[in-house]
Amino acid sequence: KTAANGFNRTIDLKNVSISYDDLGEGAIPVIFLHGFPFNKSTWKSQLESLQSSRRVIAFDLRGFGKSHDEKTALSIDLFTSDLIEFMDKLAIEKAIICGLSMGGYIALNAIHKYPERFEALILCDTQCIADTAEGKEKRYKAIDEIENGGLTEFYEGFIKKLFHKDSISSKKEIVANLSTVVFSNSQSSITRGLIAMAERSETCSTLGQISIPTLIICGREDELTPLEQSEFMNGKIKNSKLKVIDNAGHVSNLEQPAEFNNYLSNFLNELS
Ligand code: MLT
Repeated sequence: KTAANGFNRTIDLKNVSISYDDLGEGAIPVIFLHGFPFNKSTWKSQLESLQSSRRVIAFDLRGFGKSHDEKTALSIDLFTSDLIEFMDKLAIEKAIICGLSMGGYIALNAIHKYPERFEALILCDTQCIADTAEGKEKRYKAIDEIENGGLTEFYEGFIKKLFHKDSISSKKEIVANLSTVVFSNSQSSITRGLIAMAERSETCSTLGQISIPTLIICGREDELTPLEQSEFMNGKIKNSKLKVIDNAGHVSNLEQPAEFNNYLSNFLNELS
């Protein structure tokens, strides 16, 4: 194992201490990018299932989890440059990148800008479109509500949208754990994260340039980034395959971890 291996390692990126877990060994690591407003712990089950066979890394995006940053304006471009700087500092020339939702927005942006840095792509419950005018308006309305009335109402509505309806009642522990993750992020990180997503560019027009092997995974009942979005990306990316997970909503890796991990490890094994 490399000396840098372990949980909660830190590395400075533009004056912010970034917290990351770096487990297992292997020449080309899988780097996991979490969704909004989560943290690296949401990849725990994937790290556990893969760490005996390869190097796996998950980091807290700036402003989230233990990567405290209360000031910087957030954008998908900034998260992308953080990812590349993170790889540079860890001397990772090439990685397999796996992003869920907002993590997928970052992965698609990174693949477009730095195609030479990635060996394979895994897109989970995400999409290539930008926000519609209506979608943008909703984000800014949510920011107003949060700034005037705090986070509770926003969170309660948001958590419900993350899960398949059955998960809310049958997977209470998973729902409670994710609520803790969501509630642990600061109000300013939430509002700056909403702006980052509202202002993101579309990446659909770049999908035809992706030539690396790509796995797309989506929960059948995903409300936030619906299955049609994954089907659309699967149609545009040359070397991609789509796996649909039943009885899952937007957080398919948490709702159906065994099936999710199975798709992930089969895809990774086929690469090598
Ligand atoms: C996410 O899960 O990262 C976000 O909900 C995605 C979004 O709101 O566009």
